[in-house]
Amino acid sequence: MKHKTVFILISFLSLVAQSQNLNDYKLWLKYNKIENHDLSQAYSKTTNAVYIANIGDIIKNAKRELSLALPQMLGTQVTYESRITSETTLIIDVFNNLPEDLKLAVKKNIENIDKEGFIIQSISRNNTPLTIITSKEEIGLLYGTFRFLREMQMHENISAKTIVDSPKIQLRMLNHWDNLDRSVERGYAGFSLWNWQKLPEYIDQRYIDYARANASIGINATVLTNVNANALVLTPMYLEKVEALANVFRSYGIQVYLTARFSAPIEIGNLETADPLDKNVQEWWSNKAAEIYKRIPDFGGFLVKANSEGQPGPQNYGRNHVDGANLMATALKPFGGNVIWRAFVYSEHDDTDRAKQAYDEFLPYDGSFKDNVIVQVKNGPIDFQPREPFHPMFGAYKKTPLAIEFQITQEYLGFSTHLVFLPKLFEEILDIDTYQKGTESTIAKIIDGSLYGNKLTTMAGVANIGTDLNWTGHPFAQANWYGFGRLAWDPNLNSGQIADEWIRATYTNDKAFVEPIKKMMLTSREAVVNYMNPLGLHHIFDTGHHYGPGPWVDDLGRPDWNPVYYHNADKNGIGFDRTTSGSNALEQYAPFLEKAYSNTNTIPEEYLLWFHHLPWDYKLKNGEILWDGIALKYQEGVDQVDDMIKTWEAAKPFLNEEQFNEVHMLLQIQLKEAKWWRDACLLYFQTFSNLPLPKGVEKPAHSLEYYQSLKFPFAPGIKPSWN
Ligand code: GCU
Repeated sequence: MKHKTVFILISFLSLVAQSQNLNDYKLWLKYNKIENHDLSQAYSKTTNAVYIANIGDIIKNAKRELSLALPQMLGTQVTYESRITSETTLIIDVFNNLPEDLKLAVKKNIENIDKEGFIIQSISRNNTPLTIITSKEEIGLLYGTFRFLREMQMHENISAKTIVDSPKIQLRMLNHWDNLDRSVERGYAGFSLWNWQKLPEYIDQRYIDYARANASIGINATVLTNVNANALVLTPMYLEKVEALANVFRSYGIQVYLTARFSAPIEIGNLETADPLDKNVQEWWSNKAAEIYKRIPDFGGFLVKANSEGQPGPQNYGRNHVDGANLMATALKPFGGNVIWRAFVYSEHDDTDRAKQAYDEFLPYDGSFKDNVIVQVKNGPIDFQPREPFHPMFGAYKKTPLAIEFQITQEYLGFSTHLVFLPKLFEEILDIDTYQKGTESTIAKIIDGSLYGNKLTTMAGVANIGTDLNWTGHPFAQANWYGFGRLAWDPNLNSGQIADEWIRATYTNDKAFVEPIKKMMLTSREAVVNYMNPLGLHHIFDTGHHYGPGPWVDDLGRPDWNPVYYHNADKNGIGFDRTTSGSNALEQYAPFLEKAYSNTNTIPEEYLLWFHHLPWDYKLKNGEILWDGIALKYQEGVDQVDDMIKTWEAAKPFLNEEQFNEVHMLLQIQLKEAKWWRDACLLYFQTFSNLPLPKGVEKPAHSLEYYQSLKFPFAPGIKPSWN
């Protein structure tokens, strides 16, 4: 019996090892050996004698990273010096501690960084080359060290350039939708990292590696718990565990936030109400804040989902979002904490177009929130679709700081099975001009505070991280975590550059690998749009779990949970009319865009069916009729996945067997599912268009009834039922 168990365990472990490469655990911090001799020599010279200040825990982590990375990359141990000498080749210290001559050398640049920024500068001192990593505060040294190592990973000539960099956004934050039972809402990479049962005593190495990875890309805040919150996390038993995590994360510059359930005063505080205007409730939150800050002096604050999808909130007591947010803001204010109040609201009692509701509900409150409130808005007005126009609150909200919420986990983009490089999506949104304050009112400028001068700036990403060996389920999903962090640091970065960095750090610097793989990553986003939701179609996913197509679904409790609500296909055509003849959601955009998007000649075709209901024989710009255009886009998406497979196969010589196989297997599933999307959607829409499939579109493999009969009761990402 015992042997049998061991055998099963071994087989299981080898299966796991096969499907997930152990090396993937190291993410983009693999620090591969630098084979190029000259380069390796040059780096060895730079890192020959390192002086690193001893000023706190953060810098200790910078030193640890160097001690891990340099021997791996260069094959030599690092020699640390206890003081700066004439032999020193690399100095890592804050500006104020530098010797006067070095201060002078970096002085001009120091004025151009903020408290988290850093400078990497090479000079000649007494005819000896010297590289300096410096900053105003300790955290900048950690970021500078990671940057220094990345430059080496990318085989850059460090001593030939000066890098002066600061984050453009203050709060660069992951939102974990992790439940206390360790399930992860919309999580596709295993269970929650947070092992509540073993905390606070047991500090899993994963927590440290998670913090390292985040710090390496500049993420400085994390919300540990699901927005569909459980009040228990605010009880002493859990706060002690949160404190243990915060202690680990602090030394990597990461602040901890929690989600706060609005009804917590009732559920864990024995009060009869959670009314924000009730004195006892106010006192309860103030005491709770004091209790938390006693344990975690740098606690970030609360993220709140209130009166949204059944969550409790101020409206349960006839109050509004301002009352609710300000209640918590008042409690956190004395300790420097923030409230991040989500604007993801739509009501079952309101039959207005769901895309309009958040704007309508929140616009009147602009400027009424306390100054430590941030309103967090999803990138699009519906819900993390493969493509959405931007949320109209961006640009319209002028006085209250807005945070943008992206979803890194791929709820609507094929879970962790599909290779989709999301920075392309994030970049598209950040670069959009809202025209709300003249031209160049881009979302990036709204988020980084430069357009309206907001004091608090935030970018949040719903995490795609779990206990899977490779953290994110799909090895390429690591690039989405990486890319989110990079864009939160600098929303003007280019997705091509991000892909380039990630590939080089994760795989190799060989151009023959980097270039085709980069191209594959950069087209992957358009591919998923094509095979799932082309030309502005949206939310046609199967019920609840959002796995696979379900455009026919029409029986859910609320109209706006049904795909038929969004595509409106009938014999006359398809699409959601959001012009004046329909819901007029376009009125929420700046006049320039309202006009451009109202007109089918001037709207970008990728948003066509988001804003217009059009006949099946409507002529697209390329001359195809709409029906043919939709069908051909679905086919194009499938073909693009086919090409991705070819690219990966051609890259085989650069990969070991495991690396090759894991992505190859995933791409095969992606292809199968892309075809499934194409066939199911086209067969269904064909019942309305009554038109044949155009030439070039493959014949569906099964009947519509077959696709409609598919059920997935245990699809991941939704709360499991344990029986
Ligand atoms: C989506 C998602 C939910 C999540 C919600 C939110 O609707 O499907 O699981 O709770 O977004 O962002 O609050």
